[in-house]
Amino acid sequence: MAGLLCAAGTTVPAVAESPASAPGHAVAPQSGNGLALTPPMGFNNWNSTHCRAEFDESMVKGIADIFVEKGLKDAGYRYVNLDDCWAKPQRNAEGKLEADPQRFPNGIKEVADYVHSKGLKIGIYTSAGTKTCASVGFPGALGHEYSDAQQFADWGIDYLKYDNCNNQGVDAKQRYTTMRDALAATGRPIVYSICEWGENKPWEWAGELGNLWRTTGDINDSWASMLSIMKKNLPLAAAAGPGHWNDPDMLEVGNGGMTDTEYRTHFSMWSVMAAPLLIGSDLRKASTETFEILSNHEVIAVDQDPLGKQGTVLSSVDGRWVVAKEMADGSRAVALFNETGSAQRIATTAAAVGLPKADGYTMRDLWQHRSYNTAGTVAATVPAHGTVLLRVAADGEWAAHPPAVELGLESSPLIEAGRTATLTTTVTGLGRTPAKKISALLTGPSGWQVKAVSPTGTPALPAGRTLATRWQVTAPAGTPTGTYDLTLDARYRSPDGTLVRSTVPFRAHVVVAPPSGANHLGDLPQLSAANGWGPVERDTSNGESGAGDGHPLTIGGAVFAKGLGVHADSAVEFYTGGACGTVTARVGVDDEAGAGGTVAFEVWADGEKAASTGVLTNAMPAQPVTADVSGAQVVRLVVTDGGDDVDSDHADWADLRITC
Ligand code: GLA
Repeated sequence: MAGLLCAAGTTVPAVAESPASAPGHAVAPQSGNGLALTPPMGFNNWNSTHCRAEFDESMVKGIADIFVEKGLKDAGYRYVNLDDCWAKPQRNAEGKLEADPQRFPNGIKEVADYVHSKGLKIGIYTSAGTKTCASVGFPGALGHEYSDAQQFADWGIDYLKYDNCNNQGVDAKQRYTTMRDALAATGRPIVYSICEWGENKPWEWAGELGNLWRTTGDINDSWASMLSIMKKNLPLAAAAGPGHWNDPDMLEVGNGGMTDTEYRTHFSMWSVMAAPLLIGSDLRKASTETFEILSNHEVIAVDQDPLGKQGTVLSSVDGRWVVAKEMADGSRAVALFNETGSAQRIATTAAAVGLPKADGYTMRDLWQHRSYNTAGTVAATVPAHGTVLLRVAADGEWAAHPPAVELGLESSPLIEAGRTATLTTTVTGLGRTPAKKISALLTGPSGWQVKAVSPTGTPALPAGRTLATRWQVTAPAGTPTGTYDLTLDARYRSPDGTLVRSTVPFRAHVVVAPPSGANHLGDLPQLSAANGWGPVERDTSNGESGAGDGHPLTIGGAVFAKGLGVHADSAVEFYTGGACGTVTARVGVDDEAGAGGTVAFEVWADGEKAASTGVLTNAMPAQPVTADVSGAQVVRLVVTDGGDDVDSDHADWADLRITC
């Protein structure tokens, strides 16, 4: 089935100019080394080990073995890359770099030979400064560019990641140019990865120097970090192309800080952005799900498409994103990405993604590995934090596939335990051919009552027609607050009788009405919480890593006993059930934050912004915030990074109160 979209002999539609090619960014000229004509794929140890002792020869060899044994080499992964901390802290008497004898007792050449013997390639790391970034400070290549590059070439290195620490203020372009020349002088093909964290807008100049350049600061294994990096990388699409790629940093898939749904989003979005796919988890300990995500051939094919276009944002409204990537065969990869904490309908059309007018289109779901036909609407209800990744083609093959339907939920699934809520589900025909004999079934967790109170079936759904069903849903009294899956299943037949099943999980929230009177909002149960670093803390500041690592909430010398400590970018939601009136707080950057701490606070009442502060710095005393949230079902407290980066953004919602 996968070959259908690129089948030889079919009419390839005229390649339409992508309507969304983002203007405004200079296109970097192409690097001259002829390498990385598709985004580099491989492994790098940093995200899983940092400098810990488990980063050693046996890990590197073990990863190379797994690449071969588990089919990752066949899937396209090639580079096994060593990050910081591989070296001895001092150069030797001849000024040469040496490997750390504990980690690499047989030296780098021997590991390189091993990796090469598996038909793979090997990468190494150093910094365009006097020392690398690790606190120990291993030797950097500034002033040693030609001899270090030659040494890497002598070891058989195929890829260099060149970092930015301890750069002594020397101009970035100059530093990265010297190493480009030094690598070229070795005569060995070495992929050149520029890692200056987007500080000097490398997308404007690095294309003629390197094969890829980091566009942001470091990723970490959290939803908020992945999301903020993705948002910075998406607008840079015009700079990417064969041999020169935007690099939104290495993958976190499998490291444990996100759900598998979120990791599928991470992998889908990196692929649609034509990002390097450098696995950042220790594959020796990886789960089946991690391997399944990383080796999805159809998603990898989006990333590795030879046309080399980075996908562009067609629309982004209230956390519902449509990102489309033009493919060499004229089809479009379309990511329907849901940033929000509940299932959302996300829709576009074949015309909007740039496909030519046709009778019908093939729409292939790259995670389900199933193809459908559509009359032109490209839409899905996407689970919370999920991405539906589609490949849509005007390939004349649509009639071979069953019609697509779209499943939806009309009402917001906030359920108070012991009380009956009425929810309406929808099944809508999208197909060029009608869906037949449709039936819908909503199920809840065991012990819940789910009863249809209107028809659950219909004989046919042509494109645009909807079967709407009302359900009475009761969570047993005493059900703890939290999120629960309600699953909508639709069964239908294509005109030739083929049975099709389609399923969407909706995240339902069991909530409790807030107590009436004056409340400390921070003490109420959270509907959802996202935070830039570490968890949201109750009554203390955010210490950036584990739970409970903060200090008393302190702004401008004033200490507060109650409130929430967060780190930008942050969003915390509470159920208010239409029963509350006003939120008040004293807000600001916590005194413990470094000088870079600048944030802005916002209070949202359902979809409306009810109050905002503008940018606050850590030199400012606590600012009062008052927001009218009357009638809102959900109150959302947002902290943004204030327009600079997410750096030292310790933000306190001090003395946070709500009246209900
Ligand atoms: C910097 C880079 C990271 C990693 C570390 C190693 O922070 O951006 O990707 O290489 O240095 O110290």
